[in-house]
Amino acid sequence: MSSLLKILAALAALVVVVAAGALIYIYGFLPRQRPAPDFQVVSTPEVVARGEYLVKHVLLCNDCHSERDWTLYSGPAKPPLGAGRPCMDRDTKPVGINFGMPGFPGRLCIRNITPDVETGIGAWTDGEIARAIREGVSRNGEALFPIMPWFMYTILSDEDTAAVIAYMRAQPPVESFRPDRTLDFPLNIVFRFYPRPLGGPVTAPPRSDTVAYGKYLSKIARCEFCHTARVRGQVEPQAERLFSGGVPFTMGTRTQYSMNLTPHETGLGAWTREMFFERFRRHTEPFPVTEEENSEMDWVAFSGMSDEDLGAIWDFLQTLPPRETKLLERAD
Ligand code: HEC
Ligand code: HEC
Repeated sequence: MSSLLKILAALAALVVVVAAGALIYIYGFLPRQRPAPDFQVVSTPEVVARGEYLVKHVLLCNDCHSERDWTLYSGPAKPPLGAGRPCMDRDTKPVGINFGMPGFPGRLCIRNITPDVETGIGAWTDGEIARAIREGVSRNGEALFPIMPWFMYTILSDEDTAAVIAYMRAQPPVESFRPDRTLDFPLNIVFRFYPRPLGGPVTAPPRSDTVAYGKYLSKIARCEFCHTARVRGQVEPQAERLFSGGVPFTMGTRTQYSMNLTPHETGLGAWTREMFFERFRRHTEPFPVTEEENSEMDWVAFSGMSDEDLGAIWDFLQTLPPRETKLLERAD
């Protein structure tokens, strides 16, 4: 063999070894995960009530895990709550945030999270549910597609996570099968890199520290997610644009933009605490609207937030550096 051929053969062998190594790493070691934690929920009526409050008025799990009624203001979740959604695929018309994707790159059927044993989470352990919510790993060890906002829920305290699980388990089981997800290349690989296991116990800041507690709430209630522009294709919000809004949402034929929540004049600068509360309490019941008049933000669900929690969010938002956002400009 000539020396050139030898070099080429060595290079080809190297490429094969590197590719095989990458595949072994991606499919053998990703997503990073720990075994489902030994997380036991002690369910009492108080704990279930706390979970109900969180699910219905703060975390809004059912806004994704149910169909929504877009003929009514703020698109309330339609019963049976938590039973999952019809699949979305390349041809599904986007509603709400769409990450600039023309259609879903594959097929995703948001799952049934009611306690049905066959088609829901009835057979899952508490630890498996907690790991899915906060660490982005499904029961079978697969990475959850990050439309599931586990990367916001990583800070959900152990106590609040337990309350959510206690509430989920107290709901009637609904039989509703959702097929497995399929993802096109390269997303099927990219999202395997995202999940991060938690290293230890998670606690919420004390309620007496309203700014810190408001920061906690504004993350788990996804104010941060919807009100922060992100680089196209990334799930993590841009740190330098935190809460400055301008994120485009598709509503019928209209694009709406989430508001700048920083205390700048293009945001909440001219708002008072009273105006903020009034906006959240304005619609406590859904009413008929056209698709164009609707809002992606589920105001009706959020209207049930306690005074204490809303006040904490306001206090926190007031501490943000004021940033300018021209609302009718694409910020992504
Ligand atoms: C913004 C939309 C959204 C919200 C809000 C949301 N989820 Fe999800 N969830 C998803 C999607 C999408 C998936 C599927 C991901 C996949 O299959 O890769 C999912 C998957 C799950 C799974 C795994 C189910 C399975 O069979 O693999 C559980 C459990 C879950 N979510 C629980 C919750 C709980 C509890 C909440 C509220 C605390 C919640 N989700 C809020 C979108 C959401
Ligand atoms: C699912 C995405 C989403 C979530 C979650 C969300 N928002 Fe919004 N928000 C929007 C969009 C879109 C608009 C613009 C349409 C509208 O005014 O309803 C908006 C508008 C607003 C406005 C301006 C209302 C007005 O009358 O001009 C405020 C204030 C606000 N959001 C605060 C919050 C806070 C605080 C949270 C968390 C508790 C939150 N949002 C969660 C998407 C979201």
